[in-house]
This record gives sequence, C-alpha cells and structure tokens, in this order.
Amino acid sequence: MSEYPHDLAALRAREFPWEARGDAIHFDHASVGPIPQRARDALDAYGLKRAEPHRLGMDDFFPVLDRARTLVGKLVGASAGEVVLTTNTSWGVNLAAYSLPLGPGDIVLGSQGEFPANVYPWMSAAKARGFTYELLPLAGTGPDVAAVLSRIDQDPRVKAVALSWVSFWSGARIDLGAIGAACRARGIWFAVDAIQGLGPLVLDVRTTPVDILSCGAQKWLCSPWGAGFAYMRHGLVAALEPPAAGWLAQASSGDFGRFLDYDPAWHADARKFEVGTIPYQDIVGMNEALALLLELGPSRVEAHVRAITTELLDWAQGAAGVRILTPLAEERRAGIVAFTTPDVDGDSAKLRAAKVTHSVREGAIRLSPHFHNTLQEVEVVIAAIGR
Ligand SMILES: Cc1ncc(COP(=O)(O)O)c(C=O)c1O
Repeated sequence: MSEYPHDLAALRAREFPWEARGDAIHFDHASVGPIPQRARDALDAYGLKRAEPHRLGMDDFFPVLDRARTLVGKLVGASAGEVVLTTNTSWGVNLAAYSLPLGPGDIVLGSQGEFPANVYPWMSAAKARGFTYELLPLAGTGPDVAAVLSRIDQDPRVKAVALSWVSFWSGARIDLGAIGAACRARGIWFAVDAIQGLGPLVLDVRTTPVDILSCGAQKWLCSPWGAGFAYMRHGLVAALEPPAAGWLAQASSGDFGRFLDYDPAWHADARKFEVGTIPYQDIVGMNEALALLLELGPSRVEAHVRAITTELLDWAQGAAGVRILTPLAEERRAGIVAFTTPDVDGDSAKLRAAKVTHSVREGAIRLSPHFHNTLQEVEVVIAAIGR
C-alpha cells in the first residue's frame, strides 16, 4: 500500500520511536499531531541555545523564519512573499475578517458546523465593521456547497465566503476548486481554514483559487503549538491594510541600527501582517516537520492516508450499528473518519484500552490517521471495537 520512497517501518523507527515500540497508536491528528524525532532534535538544539543566549547566532533569527516561508510556499504552491507566519489558525482568520474590504451592506457566507475558530472572528468583525455574517444550514454532514454556489451566483451582496476545507467533526471536505473558481469569477473573496485538510490532502494555490488560507501546524503538520501560517494571494498582500501594526511589520525592521527613525512603511510582502516577535523555537520545529512531509511527497502522503481511511470506512460500512458521518466518496473526505456506534463511550474506552489515541467530537468517534500509520494499526482499531 505504501508508495513512499522510504521504508515505512524505518520511518516509524526513526521519527516516531514510541510508536514503533508499541506505546500508542496515534489516530488523532485532527486533534494534535506527534512531533517527529528530527523536529525534536532541532527543538532540543535550539532550546539549549535559547536557554543560554550567548550561543545564539544571527542564523537563529530571521533565517529561521525565511526558511519557514519557503517551506510553506513549497507545500501550498505559493511564493515565500505570500506567506504570513502566525501562531495559530485564528490569527489568519482574523486577518481575513478584519482586513478584507467589507462593510455595511456586504454579506460574508459561512456555514453551520464550522469550528468556532472560523466563526467568532467573523462574528466579531461583522459587529465592528458593519457587514452581515450569515451561516448557511448544513447539507448532510458538511457545508451546502450547492447553496453557497447559488448564493454567490444570485446575491450581489455576497462579498466573501469563509469556510473550512475539511470539517473537524465529520471529516466532510468541500470542493475548494469549485467554490474558489466561482468566487474568483465574481470578484468575491474566498477565505479558507485549512487546518483539517493540509497534510492529508495536497493543495496548490496556483490551480486552486483561494484568497486567504489559514492553517495552524499543530495537527496534521506535526509541529509544535505556536507554529502556523496564512497564505495571502499576491495581489491582496499589496492591496490590504494590516489590521494590526508592530515593529516587525515595517520594512525598516531589518535595520537594527535605526530603530528610532520610525518609518511606518509596511514590508512589501506578507511579512507586513506579522506584527511582532514570532516564537522562533516553534518555527524551528515546524521547519523540520514540513521538510519531512515534503521529502515524503505530499501526494504520496495523501495516497497513504486515503488507503488507511478507506480501510476504516470499509469496515465501518459493514459494522453492526455503526453510522458513518464522513462522506464515502474519496473527493469528499480527507484524513478524518467519524462515526457513531450504539455505545460511543464504551467503544471509546475500548479504543483507549487498546492504546488507540482518538477523539470523540459532537457525539461521534473521530479517527484521524496520517502518513506514519499502518494498515496493521487499523486492524487493532477494528478488533478493539469488535462490531
Ligand atoms: C477547523 C479548525 N480550525 C481551527 C482550529 C484551531 O484553531 P487555532 O489553531 O487557532 O487554535 C481547529 C482545531 O482545534 C479546527 O478543527
């Protein structure tokens, strides 16, 4: 099943030794991703320098962030100048909600079922800026894409669409290409929360029209908390006014000899949205995790995750009393498989007893395997629930 150029057993032994030892089966990337050994090593080395700052050199500051922008750019098909480094998904969502040109009379479309990180910033900005934020009803367990497309088509007041790529509770994936193309054709902004999609799915913003994409790296990108990013389309970087200012957002920030000249000109690239000091150590960890994903190959990772989730869904379809929340069609799902059973709490306890790390969300068992998991681990899950 594995199309990796790497040997999966060797990859697990090297990057996740606790997993190779059998300490746990991590099927919970939708909640928090494990940190690969190479990132842990980099964090340890950086942590030592941080604790004893005389060991820090100039390469430990801005070049760390430059490398991150380049790696993120490679991952999503963007240029480094379109990448804003952030500390979580929420900052990127706020960036969209507070900087896109929206005001009274305008409508931003969202959906019921969204994770609150992609709701509250829009609610708050709607109140502050006077636009209307509307949550469309769900269609099944995901956003009603047909309703979104029809509103885009027929309601000239719609100025932005703000959706998650993949639902955190059902795993339903929306067609970013279809919505993005419809938005682009009508001059409507498309803001995407990508945290549950990027990693198990491949994205190339050169072919998938998205205006602002927000992503924390703590889940499917196997990075420390505090590392994240937003992609902002080139033309928008120049056009938008940052909603918050800070010394590192200014073009003059690189000149440590002239702090007192107070030149308010923004950076010409996406750094203009970065405000102040970024948690370097978390970005060091993210860099190694992203480098690993890029070495494995994002499309091979996608195929690997699909093979594992398909196996889980094949079992769930025949399992007694199991109701699957995740759409079965491959193009409508990503790395999450969610389902209810007649005894969710009991089955969750059985999974815990079998050392399968997972979550229960909105009353359903949520399994979210990734690039380092195996089909043998799926068998452990099936045997544990035993339906
Ligand atoms: C869809 C979605 N967006 C955002 C987040 C988290 O947001 P943040 O990175 O700002 O903590 C989560 C999960 O916690 C999520 O599932």
